[in-house]
Amino acid sequence: MVQSAVMVENSQILYASEPELDVAEFRRVLVESGLGETRPVDDEARLRAMLSGANLVLTARLDVEGRPLIGVVRAVTDFSWVCYISELAVSQSAQGLGIGKGLMDEARRQLGPSVAISLISMPDAVGFYERIGMKRMAEAFWFSRKR
Ligand SMILES: CC(C)(COP(=O)(O)OP(=O)(O)OC[C@H]1O[C@@H](n2cnc3c(N)ncnc32)[C@H](O)[C@@H]1OP(=O)(O)O)[C@@H](O)C(=O)NCCC(=O)NCCS
Repeated sequence: MVQSAVMVENSQILYASEPELDVAEFRRVLVESGLGETRPVDDEARLRAMLSGANLVLTARLDVEGRPLIGVVRAVTDFSWVCYISELAVSQSAQGLGIGKGLMDEARRQLGPSVAISLISMPDAVGFYERIGMKRMAEAFWFSRKR
């Protein structure tokens, strides 16, 4: 269901919650954003499990024929206390138009003021998260996956 529509450079961007997002579309936007370098884009079963195990999947689509996917947020949350955003990706051709911020705004709107949002930034995206007002946490910790 479309949650909101925003005009960007003569095109309408549709933001929606898509719990059943197609794995091939998810893969394509990861690759087109550059995030495919760090995600298992050649392991369809794992990508599928990442989508089915997430409980907040938000999309940004262009409101033209076929409604191409141009951005995605995939997250895990209890909708009460905390949300972990595992991917935020915007296709390279659509970057710099406010869509990454739009997806984060939509996530915050859906989660509401009681829910904190955490994530691990890619090095090149640190400036983006600072720009949208996220606080850098020196005390965050991480066990790396082994594969
Ligand atoms: C990082 C990313 C999600 C940002 O999305 P986007 O749609 O390009 O960003 P927006 O257009 O919404 O930018 C919002 C603001 O942040 C700024 N910004 C965007 N990317 C930035 C960056 N990498 N460094 C510093 N500032 C940045 C924009 O200039 C804009 O500033 P403004 O409010 O003054 O206009 C997108 O570039 C992307 O998908 N990158 C590759 C994948 C990735 O690194 N994802 C993050 C994984 S943790």
